[in-house]
Amino acid sequence: MLHQKFKYFILIIGLLFNLPINAADPQIHMLVDTCIACHGTDGSSVGSATPNIANMREELFVKAMRDMRSGERPSTVMRIVAKGYTDSEIRIMAQFFSQQQAILHHQDFDVERAIKGRELHNSYCNGCHKIEGKTTELLSNNLAGQQMPYLRHRLTEFINNSDPTISPLMKNALKHFIDNNSQDSLENLLHYYASLGGK
Ligand code: HEC
Ligand code: HEC
Repeated sequence: MLHQKFKYFILIIGLLFNLPINAADPQIHMLVDTCIACHGTDGSSVGSATPNIANMREELFVKAMRDMRSGERPSTVMRIVAKGYTDSEIRIMAQFFSQQQAILHHQDFDVERAIKGRELHNSYCNGCHKIEGKTTELLSNNLAGQQMPYLRHRLTEFINNSDPTISPLMKNALKHFIDNNSQDSLENLLHYYASLGGK
């Protein structure tokens, strides 16, 4: 028992000094083993309704977990899962997942839609969700290669205004997009992001 506590203490100290999390640490495994069933080993999900969380920015991870835990951000399973973790445990997991390399799984997509989607992305989304090669940088987590059904669901939440935790920047960007494009062109964006996944 004492031994466990000591390990935990070392981990917190590590976090304070921003030392890399050791993936082999049993404490980390105790925390993230529950996540792996749905989010895949090291955060690259295979289930289509489950987002990739590998390489997710730490502060977005923490915010997402807290918002789902409080129920402010709508979620299905995560509102229950997140209740099992304290703020400091969430921070530890955030650091762990942010350090995992995202493995972008293959998804079927329509080539013509993907080409149109790339144009739309460059005009409306790239300013904040900059995609270089296959990684999304700046504000976003993981639009590149993100699971298509998850993204569709998430964008619908934004459009329906059912997630009060969404950033005003994103809200305005989407409004701008919707005002100038058909709802169907959102689908083109999804095909573009899917096209950035693996072969
Ligand atoms: C039973 C399946 C399941 C388990 C177990 C699970 N998740 Fe999730 N996770 C989901 C689903 C589905 C979503 C989408 C939101 C929702 O509907 O709950 C999600 C969303 C998330 C998000 C939001 C990602 C984003 O892009 O905003 C984070 C972060 C996350 N999960 C972290 C975790 C962590 C950490 C664990 C382990 C402690 C975990 N999840 C365990 C299924 C799961
Ligand atoms: C002005 C900046 C800005 C622009 C432009 C923008 N976004 Fe966002 N987007 C954000 C911010 C900020 C977030 C919130 C990050 C968070 O708190 O989860 C976000 C979040 C998202 C998420 C949620 C990720 C997740 O896993 O929950 C999706 C999906 C998304 N944006 C798609 C788009 C698409 C598609 C476009 C183009 C139509 C776009 N964004 C344009 C700023 C922007």
